Amino acid sequence: MRNQRGRFIVFEGGEGAGKSTQVVRLAEHLTDQAHEVIVTREPGGTPGAEAIRALVLDPAHAGLDPRAEAMLFAAARAEHVAALIEPSLAAGKTVICDRFIDSSVAYQGLGRHLGAERIRELSAWATNGLSADLTIVLDIDPVLGLTRAGQVSASPDRMESEDISFHEMVREAFLDAASQHPTRYAVIDADNAPDDIALAVNAAIAALN
Ligand code: TYD
Repeated sequence: MRNQRGRFIVFEGGEGAGKSTQVVRLAEHLTDQAHEVIVTREPGGTPGAEAIRALVLDPAHAGLDPRAEAMLFAAARAEHVAALIEPSLAAGKTVICDRFIDSSVAYQGLGRHLGAERIRELSAWATNGLSADLTIVLDIDPVLGLTRAGQVSASPDRMESEDISFHEMVREAFLDAASQHPTRYAVIDADNAPDDIALAVNAAIAALN
């Protein structure tokens, strides 16, 4: 059917959880099933939001005020939703996004102690109430994740440089969101082999239908 609204699928997880690999694999799987798929990421996804990304993740701004940081992530999200995500969903496309509101709740709300509820409200305003149809949490022990992330990126961004307790808080925030809304989340152990993770992701998507 033409113009049936598309589905919005989000991947969340700490550093080194392997989200980018799984995003690509899910996109291939759904494309094979004749879905039109848009793959995108946060912060970023549009030229304006990518410019904000460059600013907010730049290690040169190590001491950026937490409220300024929270609003920059929210600003990037507002632009991303308005210019790319919402029009794509309205056109019937499946949108797969690497990180969304729960990352702000986890990193800014819990990690930066700005408060989960306030950050959720800020994001809800930024997205005009849009939330994911399904959020896949790739769960990983931060010690393992950061080791993996370190092997991939030689120059850590501002978040990767935070200490382990910050990343423990981030992990708990994702698990907490999932436990509050079990029908809209799937938690998958990211310590498994990539093939097994991909199968679990596909099963979670199939269960959506
Ligand atoms: P990225 O290189 O995309 O990291 P990853 O591969 O781990 O997704 O960098 C995004 C970073 O920005 C990541 O450390 C999480 C952080 N972030 C926030 O702090 N708040 C947010 O709202 C979002 C979307 C990301």
